Formats: sequence, structure tokens, C-alpha cells
Amino acid sequence: LDRKVEMNLWEKGNYINYRKMSDNLATVRGRLNKPLTLAEKVIYSHLDNPHEQEIERGKSYLKLRPDRVACQDATAQMAILQFMSAGIPKVQTPTTVHCDHLIEAQVGGPKDLARAESINKEVYDFLSSACAKYDIGFWKPGSGIIHQIILENYAFPGGLLIGTDSHTPNGGGLGMAAIGVGGADAVDVMAGLPWELKAPKVIGVKLTGQMSGWTAPKDIILKVAGILTVKGGTGAIVEYHGPGVETLSCTGMGTICNMGAEIGATTSIFPFNDRMYEYLNATKRKDIGDHARAYAHDLKADKGAEYDQLIEINLSELEPHINGPFTPDLATPLSKFKQAVEENGWPTELKAGLIGSCTNSSYEDMSRAASIARDALNHGVKAKSLFYVTPGSEQIRATIARDGQMETFEDFGGVILANACGPCIGQWDRQDVKKGEKNSIVSSYNRNFTGRNDANPATHAFVTSPDLTTAFTIAGDLRFNPLTDSLLAKDGKEFKLSSPTGAGLPDRGYDPGQNTYQAPPADRSFVTVNVSPTSDRLQVLSPFPAWDGKDAIDIPILIKCQGKTTTDHISMAGPWLKYRGHLDNISNNMLIGAINSENGEANKVKNQITGEYGPVPATARDYKARGIKWVVIGDWNYGEGSSREHAALEPRHLGGLAIITKSFARIHETNLKKQGMLPLTFENPEDYDKINPDDKVDLLCTEIAVGKPITIRFKPKNGSPWETKLVHTFNEDQIKWFRDGSALNTMAKNTKA
Ligand code: F3S
Repeated sequence: LDRKVEMNLWEKGNYINYRKMSDNLATVRGRLNKPLTLAEKVIYSHLDNPHEQEIERGKSYLKLRPDRVACQDATAQMAILQFMSAGIPKVQTPTTVHCDHLIEAQVGGPKDLARAESINKEVYDFLSSACAKYDIGFWKPGSGIIHQIILENYAFPGGLLIGTDSHTPNGGGLGMAAIGVGGADAVDVMAGLPWELKAPKVIGVKLTGQMSGWTAPKDIILKVAGILTVKGGTGAIVEYHGPGVETLSCTGMGTICNMGAEIGATTSIFPFNDRMYEYLNATKRKDIGDHARAYAHDLKADKGAEYDQLIEINLSELEPHINGPFTPDLATPLSKFKQAVEENGWPTELKAGLIGSCTNSSYEDMSRAASIARDALNHGVKAKSLFYVTPGSEQIRATIARDGQMETFEDFGGVILANACGPCIGQWDRQDVKKGEKNSIVSSYNRNFTGRNDANPATHAFVTSPDLTTAFTIAGDLRFNPLTDSLLAKDGKEFKLSSPTGAGLPDRGYDPGQNTYQAPPADRSFVTVNVSPTSDRLQVLSPFPAWDGKDAIDIPILIKCQGKTTTDHISMAGPWLKYRGHLDNISNNMLIGAINSENGEANKVKNQITGEYGPVPATARDYKARGIKWVVIGDWNYGEGSSREHAALEPRHLGGLAIITKSFARIHETNLKKQGMLPLTFENPEDYDKINPDDKVDLLCTEIAVGKPITIRFKPKNGSPWETKLVHTFNEDQIKWFRDGSALNTMAKNTKA
């Protein structure tokens, strides 16, 4: 039980501490005295102070000690720039950086990678030198997508990982509580501070039965997303259990956890089981599997554990699903999809099918998709639509190159893209349709907000399993149902596709491919970090000013946003990814995708001083130059989507004071607090309707106190002023961040003291 087992094969001296986790759990168990869910066990076993921490699901703020931190290259830039400004010599918690987001899909893997290496050279140089300097493991461009690399190398049952990417929960497939956070949270943990999380509620999903035919693990989460919607998982961990769990592969469980991000869940998790053991074994970590077996009782829910909500899914009855367009929770079962396409007037022709991404690029996914492509090829037909494949990692790429799936995809007409995010994050130099042209695409990705893949708001993006994606590309039509419809073979005869088949793990083991890892050097004192002062992509940060201690009187509303305002609307991805490390430059995308309630348009707001209409960022800059603070009014679930703290840094940088909404997505709310902004919500959501975009606002921020509402006064141009209350979730420490100007300012202050 007390064996020393390394956390992974790449680092020395970072051991898995099941003994301590178990002791912590025993302490908490003694206090709570009730059966615990798995989610609670994993989270509570990482408490900084298990003896005294107040624990109430959905209420208390827990101080936790994560085992690891992971950052992707787009978010790592700002996280590391922030870490550097805190002045600490090395990371205090094991950390890795993964280069996956900045590689644009153009013509195919090797060429796209070479192009990215040249375009992003200064960013990669910065990250690689900073990683070497601060003792961080660096995964070079071409290594693969962060979550796949984490699953293959770093995730372990019962661990707690935070990652600066929304789909970090992918690690739940190996029984890890893997949670997406903003860069600012990662900085805290890299600096050795405990990490704070509101004690999550727990949603149980009980799986019974067994999938067959065209139903894949993806369909479980597509179904759950339809039930819970994009808001339904907020503040909760989704915990899968029941006899159906044993029937899923480890990577399939990863897929399900990955896309739990789409319902706003803190994370998702599966109990440790034999499938996980087999995967650990296949990825050369049998030791970890054996160690986990010794602690297996801590790595599953207690009998009688209570869930805040319980959903049951019978896998034997589960249909394949297709979700979308434009939102991941619009779930349609395959049997009803044709009808939905016709009734809604969605473009029936399928322009492109894309498989892979961090969600669905396991060996099993690739093998099943290849079996469908092979079936088509055997009948003399290829993909009618464009077909793209993004392998999740170099290991997956090398293994499918060795085992033949890649050749099948190529024969089928597919283009193998680099081991990276590519079109999933808008890194897609799409040529087949013009901007504004209505068209449909289907992917095995997780997210399908407007414009995400190709920056074309008229693209109808659907998400489904790799299996259905592949089948749809053969028909080239969204109305196709492989269960009931036939295709035309080359010889003119009709044929039906066979159900997909494919092994969960490669029979001959994984082929590791090229070594794409850079370990930090033993002597780091000679390393210098490369940031050019003239760079337009990287900018060393200066601290934000502290709060002036006053109420804000007569300030304008920059924009009253109408409807969905995701982090893609607040800080658009695509071409802007380039400026992730340069706060002033990237701030030119602030809220340019949000819809102004006044005119129904994006990026066109009235400057309340000059009366002129202009872009949102320019208007904010004008207020800032005049020394005027401003607020944003938002709708439900403001800031849903990604963890990017730029969505919080930008309004702060451009002089914003508060974001006032009907509700927030969790990560964005915390990010705003970290940057010294005030995320506030209406006590009465109907107040939103009473606000005119040209009202002046008095915000009585001096009233800020834990658990107390803050008064806001609206002064309409024509009409009498009215007051209402705004609520917030600030605790004592977080109020300090607001007073000091940012969490980082508070951290720097404490370090000096
Ligand atoms: Fe990358 Fe898309 Fe996943 S951006 S990390 S592949 S969600």
C-alpha cells in the first residue's frame, strides 16, 4: 500500500500519494459520516485542510491541492506571463505545456506543421524557453492534443488535475477529476497556492445495458447534453456509474467526460475499473494500475451515496444521436434526424465531415471509422464530402499509420491533418465555401457554436460520433440513415453499410512515433526566457491598478448583450489566437461577437459621450481614455464556452468595472474575479428587460461584502431613476482581489509581506 509509484514515465520524483489521499478521506469521512460519491472522494482527498475545511455541496469554497497542472499553447502564454510576473523561480506543482491550438489546417499534417512552426516561432520559442526556465514539461508542436496526451501519459485514477482548457475533463476517462480552469487559477497552483473550488454538486448518470451497432460512447454524452442542456451541469460533477460502465472502453469514457464541458459541468468522472487498468497497461503504466487496485475502494462511490440529480440511461436502447446546429444540446436521435433536417430547412448537402479532435481520436474511434470507410471502398465508393482526420496524438498517428487505418482514410479521399486541434478551434483555412454561404458540416468534435470551425456564421455545424460522421460523408447528405438506407455501389448495386467494428486497444501495442517531449534541463539557471519587446504577439504584463475605493457614479453601459454571449463572442478565437500573449492587441476583439440588444447587430454600439456608433473595443478604449469606467449587461449563462481568461482580462484592460448578467458560466465568473472585475447577477432576472442601453448607471461597489447584495441605480434618459439589487459569489479572499486590482496583485503583495 505504501509503494512509491511515479506519476508518469517522464518525470522523476513526483509520486502518486494514494496513502495521503486515503488518510485525508478518512478524516473527512469521520466528519461527514455519510456515504460519499466518487466525485466527493476524489475532491475531498485533495483538501488542503481536511480537518477544518467547511464542506457543503454547492455552498462551501474548498481549498484544494491539485496533483498537476496542464496548459495548452494558446492559454499557456498568458498563464506563464502571469506566473513570471509573480517572481517565483520554478513551478511548485508538476506542470506541462502542450502545443496544439496554433496549427492551422490547410493541406495536411506535415506541411501544416512546418508552416505553423515558422509562423508561431516566437511563441514556441517563448514557451519552450519559459518551460525550461520554470521546470515545466514541454510537448512540442506535432505531439498531439493536450487531453489525449494527458490521458496517454499523465492521468491516473483518483488524481486531481487542473488544465487551462475547457475539455480537461477528458481525464475523467481514467478516473481523474480533471477540471478546466482559467489561466489565472493555473498560475495560483503553479505558484504553490491552494486552488479554490466551490464544493460541486454531484449529478449521477447510471448506465445499464450494453451498446451495439452504430451506437457509440459519444451518444451517451450527446443524449446527456440533450437532457441537461448547456446550463444543466453548472456547478456539478457528473459521475457515471452502474453496470453499463464496464462495457465502455477507457478512451470511450474519456469522450463522454470530455464533452461534459458542453453542459457546463465542473468535470465528469468514471469509477476505476478493469478497462482503465487495461489502458494503463497498454500505455506502459501497469504499476499505476496495480497501485490503484490496492486502493480501489477509494476510487468508486460508496454504497448508498446520494446524488443531487440522477439520470438513467439504458445503453441497449440508446440510439445514435446528432446534436446541433449552433449548439451542442440540441440532440436529435438518428431515427428523427432526417425529419428534423427537412423541417428546419438545414442544408441537406454535407460539405465536410471531420473526425478526430480531443473528443474522439482514440485508436478505437479511428478503427471504427476506418471500418466504415473500408466497407465503402470495398463497394467502390469514397467520401462524397470532404473528409478530414485529426489524430489526437503522435502515438495515435503512428499507430494508425502502422496498422493501416490511415491508408484506408487516404484511399477513402480523406486528408490527414496534423496532430492538433485544427478546425476544432477555427484553425481551418477553408476554401470550399465562401463566407456567408449556408452549408452543413458534421464533426466528431464537441463544440459547434456559430462560426467556431470556419468563422462562417452560416455554417451549420453538427456534432456526432466518428462513425456517423464517416457514414454521412459517404452519402454526402444529412438525410442519410445508415441503419435503414442503402447506398449505390460502383457496380450500380445497392448496399447497406455494416455496423462499425474496431478494437479498443491496438493488438500490437501503441507505436510511440517520434519523441516530441522536451524535459526541463537539470540546471535551469542559464536559461533565458525569450520575449522580444517589439513583438506583436507577446507582451510582458504590468499589474492592473487597485480599486479607487469609490462607488461608480453615472457610468455608461458599454453594451447590453442579447441572448447567448459565449467566450467566443467575448474573445473570439480563430485568427485572434495569434495575439493570446499580447493583451493590448487581443483586446481589439473584445465582445465583437456579442449582439447589441439595441440594434440586433454585432460590434456596433453607441458611444454615450459622442453619440456615435462604433466597434465595441474602440468605444471601450474611448471611455478608458476619458477615465470613465463602464459595465456590460448580459443574459443567461454569460461566458459559457471556453476557459480563456482573455475574456476577463480584456474588459479589465479596457477599463470595465462590472459585468452584470442573469447568470454566469462558472469559469468565466471566477476569471472575472481574478482580474479584479465585478461579476454580478440580478436578484430579479426580469430587471434585465427594464434596462435601456443608454441608461446611466450608479454602481455602489463600496457595499461589497460576503453574501450581501450590491445596489445598482439605473438612470434612463427619459424616465425616473430606479434601484435594484445585484448578488454575487465573492468570498472574503476574493473581495481582496477586487480591492487590490487583481488576484495576482494580492499574490504579489502576500509574497513580499
Ligand atoms: Fe483542441 Fe478542440 Fe479539444 S480546440 S483541445 S480539439 S475541443
